[in-house]
Formats: sequence, C-alpha cells, structure tokens
Amino acid sequence: ETPSDLPMPSGEVDGVPVIDVSETGLGAVPLLQQMELARRNGPAFVQRIHGRDTLFVSGLDLVTELADEQRFTKAVGPALVNVREFTGDGLFTAYNDEANWAKAHDVLMPAFALGSMRTYHPVMLKVARRLLDSWDRHADEGTPVAVADDMTRMTLDTIGLAGFGFDFTSFERAEPHPFVEAMVRCLEWAMIRLGRAPGGDHRAVDAAMRADADYLAAVVDEVVTARTAGRAQPEHTDLLALMLEAVHPADGTTLDVENIRNQVITFLIAGHETTSGALSFALYYLAKHPAVLRLVQQEADELWGDRTDPEPTFEDIGRLRLTRQVLNEALRLWPTAPTFSREAREDTLLGGRIRLRAGQDVRVVVPILHRDRTAWGDNPEAFDPFRFAPAAEAPRSPHAFKPFGTGERACIGRQFALHEATMLLAMLAHRYRLVDHADYRLTVKQSLTIKPNAFTLTVVPRTPED
Ligand code: HEM
Repeated sequence: ETPSDLPMPSGEVDGVPVIDVSETGLGAVPLLQQMELARRNGPAFVQRIHGRDTLFVSGLDLVTELADEQRFTKAVGPALVNVREFTGDGLFTAYNDEANWAKAHDVLMPAFALGSMRTYHPVMLKVARRLLDSWDRHADEGTPVAVADDMTRMTLDTIGLAGFGFDFTSFERAEPHPFVEAMVRCLEWAMIRLGRAPGGDHRAVDAAMRADADYLAAVVDEVVTARTAGRAQPEHTDLLALMLEAVHPADGTTLDVENIRNQVITFLIAGHETTSGALSFALYYLAKHPAVLRLVQQEADELWGDRTDPEPTFEDIGRLRLTRQVLNEALRLWPTAPTFSREAREDTLLGGRIRLRAGQDVRVVVPILHRDRTAWGDNPEAFDPFRFAPAAEAPRSPHAFKPFGTGERACIGRQFALHEATMLLAMLAHRYRLVDHADYRLTVKQSLTIKPNAFTLTVVPRTPED
C-alpha cells in the first residue's frame, strides 16, 4: 500500500524540495505518503496541498535541533487545531501560553509519577484478566481474536477505571463501546480535513463531527456525574479526584468545569488509543518472530513459572526487561502517534540553511527518524529488540527515539502506558502460543494514530512443553 504515484518536486526553497500533492491528495494513510516522500526527498521536504505548505523533517541532526527547548517548543499544528474542536484546552491540544495548560499540568503531574503506577497496578491487572478471560473463550472455541479491537477494549477500560473510576465494560460488548466509534470518527475527521480542497461543501461531515463531539462530551458528563452524585464517596486519589479537588497553589482555585470536561475527553482518547496500537504492533512482531516470543516467554516463566493464574506484582513489571524492549522496538518501527510538531520561538535557521519564522511549525516524521541509519545502523527495517539492551542504548543519541514526543510537552502518560502494556504483553506471552493462522501481511490503518489493520491471531494455551 505504499503510495506509488507521488509527484516529483516542483521546486525548492532554501534547498528543501517542494512536492505538490494537490492532485493525489493525502491518501487514506497520510503517514505512508509522508514516509515515502521522506525516503525519496531526504530529511527535509515541503508538502504542498492546495497552496498550504508543511515542512516535514526526519533526520536525526534536524530533530536534535528541534528538541532544543531554548529555540523550539510544541506547535499545536493544523492537525491538533482540528482536534481542538473536540478536546478544546485539554492538555494535549492546549496552546503553550494558555493558562490552563500550566495549571492542569501542575495539578495532574503527581498522578503520573512512577510511584503512582503502584496505585493503578491492581486496576490494570483486573482489566488484563478480562482480556485473558475473553481470549480463553476464543481458545476454547478455536476462533481467532481481533487483536487491535481487543487491545482497545483493554486500554479503554483501564484508563476509564484507573483515571475516573468509570467502567466501560468493553468485554461485555460485541461491538466497540460507542465512545470509541465516535472518537475514531472525530480523529478521522481531524485528519481528512487537512487535505480539503477549497470550495467544497463540508457542512454534512462537519455536522456529523459535531454530533460525535457532543456525544463524547455527554459520556464525560456521565463519568463526572457518577463521581459527584450526592452519595458518600470512598476516598478517591485518581485523575478525576485531582481535577475536581486539587487546588493550584498559584491562584487557589481548582480546574474549571469546562476545562475538566476537556481534560477527561483528552485523557480518555490519549490514554488508550496509542497504547492499544503499540500493543497490537508488538503482538504482530512477536507472532512473526518466534525466537523472540520464546525469550519473552522465558522471561515471564522465570517470574511466574507454569502457574495458570499468576499474580504479577508491581515490582515484577520492572523486571520484564525484554518485554519492555519488544514494546520499544515496536514503537520504534511504528510509533503510534507518528508525527508531532515544533515551532521556532524566534526567527531562526534550521540546519544552518532552512529559514523559519517565529511560530512556523515543523512536523517530525517519527517513523523515519526511527530509521535514521546514523543512529540505528544499516538495517533499520529489521525488528530487533536488542537495540534497546542497555549496552546498545548507552551510546545512542537521546533524540533518536521520540515515540512520546519531546520536552516539556512530551507525553505525560508514558509510564502509565508502559506499565500497562508491559504487564499485558508478558501475561499474554506467558499464557498462549500465538498462531499466525492467516499468514498476516501488515497493513497500517490511520485515524491520526496508527494500528495494524484487520490483524487476527489464534491463541492456544501453552502446555509445559511449549
Ligand atoms: C502527549 C504519545 C500514552 C496522555 C503525547 C505526545 C506524544 C504521545 C507523541 C506529544 C504530542 C505532541 O508533541 O504534540 C503517546 C504514546 C502512547 C501514549 C505513543 C502509548 C504508547 C498515553 C497515555 C496517556 C497519555 C496512557 C494518559 C494516561 C497524554 C497527554 C499528553 C500526551 C495528556 C499531552 C501532554 C501535554 O502537552 O502536557 N503522547 N502517548 N498518553 N499524552 Fe501520550
């Protein structure tokens, strides 16, 4: 599905090739077009569509410059401006200078310190077991599991329960929770809107997006009401409690009602979609690399022996080193939030030659950065989790691997995602043989974030011989 009919550069600015894709459009998977343009045109190129230009970069040296917080900062680029239609001034889409960003960041940071993961661990384990129960039934029946759908069930229930004490009960539903469907349509809208030709009539799709956004807000109101409804509540120490109760030292107030709604939508989206994709890609690579799967199984067996219902502890998760490396390597090849944007604080030159105006945004094509040969060697397409072994990692630039973004606005939920995903991956490897029954060929689906499309496995409980 690599786009083959891409135009040649029509010119260049400051030595950067300009490629006008107005005729071909952005394609169903815009990321694949961006990756192909980067492969053909080098570490910096301008994509032009209907007169709008976006500078994309992907080389390690240029990204290293962009990571310099003195010169650059997060840009809420056109894609995130679209997402703001349904997440407003939530953390992800807030502008740097919006007062609510710093306020919410300060209020919520304690909930994401490594120690807080200890609090979430039991909930994560409970939801992981829901997934195992469901896969056990598939194993009994010999029916395949829809990997990405089930990973999404797991991650949505986890952030719902751990963050907000709200149970989406996704495993009791044959179809994804309607929140997920509305969210995916909203994200697709935000992505497709980037390629709009001038003059079209988009009122119907825009109205459909508004209806979906209103539905997301209604679900969130239900989540908040469930908490605040008069009943005496047990003590809560989750995200919602911080949002409702924590007072900001600077002005002595809590987050306002509108901002809380935006934060809850933001966390429900950001807190599950990307983690689900990361787990799905990791399972894809494990299914295709039996020797690595075997090592991951050995790692889990060392902790949990042949117990059929192990009780992973908080400390166990830190010991699952190879499992974590597998996740990192999956995030290297397919970072599930695949681009992020930076903007110059002042007029500047990038790479000593590309003129940037203050506030002009630059988009990083993360999967191509993650294949930069100066950091990753001659065979960057190969899946090799030992790239993340400590000795291999030590000499590598910290800017060569950016699945969680960079700087002050990097992902707040990184530890949350990695704890949840490492535990689940190890529990799955411990319990099942993964059978690639359909000889799956990877295709990527994108609704801003990415995941493997239509990936199914059959799972067979391991026996002591396996
Ligand atoms: C920000 C990726 C999981 C909440 C970001 C950014 C990236 C990212 C790249 C920066 C975006 C930018 O610069 O524009 C990922 C990936 C994840 C993941 C790949 C899983 C593998 C999570 C989880 C949560 C979360 C589990 C919440 C529980 C957020 C929030 C922000 C953010 C709130 C905005 C932070 C700010 O600007 O202050 N994430 N994320 N993410 N992420 Fe994640």
